[in-house]
Amino acid sequence: MSEPLNVAEYERLAQERLDPGAFGYFLGGAGDEWTLRENVAAFNRWVLRPRMLVDVGTVTTRTTVLDADLSMPVLVAPTALQRLAHPDGEAATARGAAAAGTVFCLSTLASLSPAELAAAAPEGRHWFQLYCSRDRGFTSELVAAAGEAGFSAILLTVDLPVAGRRERDLRAAFEIPDDLPLPNLSRHLGGGNFHDALGDVVDPTITWRDLEWLASLTDLPIVVKGILTSEDARLACQHGVAGVVVSNHGGRQLDGAAASLDALPEVVETCAGEVTVLLDGGVRRGSDVVKALALGARAVLVGRAPLWGLVVDGEDGVRRVLELLREEVALGLTLLGCSSPEAVTPAHVGRPG
Ligand code: FNR
Ligand code: LAC
Repeated sequence: MSEPLNVAEYERLAQERLDPGAFGYFLGGAGDEWTLRENVAAFNRWVLRPRMLVDVGTVTTRTTVLDADLSMPVLVAPTALQRLAHPDGEAATARGAAAAGTVFCLSTLASLSPAELAAAAPEGRHWFQLYCSRDRGFTSELVAAAGEAGFSAILLTVDLPVAGRRERDLRAAFEIPDDLPLPNLSRHLGGGNFHDALGDVVDPTITWRDLEWLASLTDLPIVVKGILTSEDARLACQHGVAGVVVSNHGGRQLDGAAASLDALPEVVETCAGEVTVLLDGGVRRGSDVVKALALGARAVLVGRAPLWGLVVDGEDGVRRVLELLREEVALGLTLLGCSSPEAVTPAHVGRPG
């Protein structure tokens, strides 16, 4: 194939190049993968309502998220085990995101510590994704390490008290390679059933009260990732978060949970006036980004899309996937009659028919 033209073509190339167990881990979801499919399908239940004879002589995709200037309303979601996608792993993804002008989120399950990542991609803006461990001393050191390394937010993932049941991984007997460094975990995880291993990473007893403890550890803004209801959006606001990510973990946790895009309106209605509302799940095209903006998201995160770029061409592949999305967002805004992401309104989407 000549140079891939879109995210789907990157996915196809990634499948050809990757070991099937690792590809299944990156691609798959929980249970019947209904939520995984719904994340993508939900975007097709909205149509764009373009406006004509609007001056689109100058269009920008630039925006701000938590006071940071970004080249586009698309950030790189935290995804684990990136060294299984490419030997340069998280360093390559972070450099690709920096080159594309956007935020990279480092997973707790990464092969680099926050300091190592910052050294590998000094130009970039990074957020640290936190899984809160049973060892609170260890977690508090990790949060401090992210602050010292210059990270600009803590992204607390709240939808994984235990791992979802990912049957592709069970079928492929997918295991974390024993020699994969995972320096942000309190103990060695390699070499076992991934599902059980994940269960050891996260403290399933944490509650909203622990968010207060987390906030007491750091001056960094805290963004809660994995909100799907207005009830939890309200609680997040009451606990002083800077933002929420409407997310079902890319369909990898509770199968049967709503598509992220379907959950977005109730969260926006509850808290968009107070905190930054982001969305992830199912974003594969610039038009998806524009629909999420119209439904009230400030920006979206992409998980699998940059991973496919990472598999195909390391740092350059990540940058290229993000640039493709940025070009698609720019074209979408222009044809919609919007000169910037902020110009997109609820009136720019509707139901088909
Ligand atoms: C994830 N996701 C994730 N989330 C998180 O908070 N910490 C993590 O370590 C991971 N790891 C991870 C691995 C892989 C392979 C995937 C696909 C996803 C979830 C991720 O941040 C995001 O919510 C979804 O990927 C968004 O959906 P899309 O863009 O992949 O459809
Ligand atoms: C996953 C975890 C690590 O989804 O977040 O695989």
